[in-house]
Amino acid sequence: MKKIKISPSILSADFSELGKEIKRLDEAGADLIHVDVMDGHFVPNLTIGPPVIKALRKFTNIPFDVHLMISPVHKYIKDFADAGSDIITIHPETTDNLDSSINHIKDMKKKVGISLNPDKPISLIKNYLKDINLVLIMSVYPGFGGQKFIPEVVNKISELDNIRKTNNFKFEIEVDGGIDFTNSKEVINAGANILVSGTTIFKENNGDLKKNIETLKKI
Ligand code: DX5
Ligand code: ZN
Repeated sequence: MKKIKISPSILSADFSELGKEIKRLDEAGADLIHVDVMDGHFVPNLTIGPPVIKALRKFTNIPFDVHLMISPVHKYIKDFADAGSDIITIHPETTDNLDSSINHIKDMKKKVGISLNPDKPISLIKNYLKDINLVLIMSVYPGFGGQKFIPEVVNKISELDNIRKTNNFKFEIEVDGGIDFTNSKEVINAGANILVSGTTIFKENNGDLKKNIETLKKI
């Protein structure tokens, strides 16, 4: 059976104690730490940048799964790599040259993720699937935590999983937005193996991180 990984989004954490929150996630069994970077331009919200990621790096050895929602993204990739990102995920519409942005991330020795908003088809990235480590399927329009899961993306996950099987590609499939205990099984069964979650991880069961991580992983 494939290994399911949980990537808690620190967007729902207590921002006044981010270091402690990351330690708590580490102790609770998080597989990755999902960091949502927003620029108030590509998405209508602002969050954090490289200095904060750098400051947080010392609190855990768990890989940082950095989701860049910034445009234009290319000139910032090095800063995020140097700050301690392990996976750098970008949206295709935020770069003039997706090829060169992918290569730039690879040159920095980081894993490459490409993210698709709910209205973006797989055809947009099909030529890159052989070269990347991860596809991040957005199950909400990015910008805010706590939004409702868009069920239509489940078909996109299945389609992507089929393309992966047919071509023997190696990329992982991650899903982001509105993941909860009612839809986690569905996305896993469709082919996803990494689930991002902010609200469910930090708010369900009175914020019992370990229980929420374990429950999301159960198929
Ligand atoms: C949405 C972000 C997500 C979000 C997930 O713009 O990319 O990572 O924080 O949060 P929940 O689980 O609350 O939808
Ligand atoms: Zn995200």
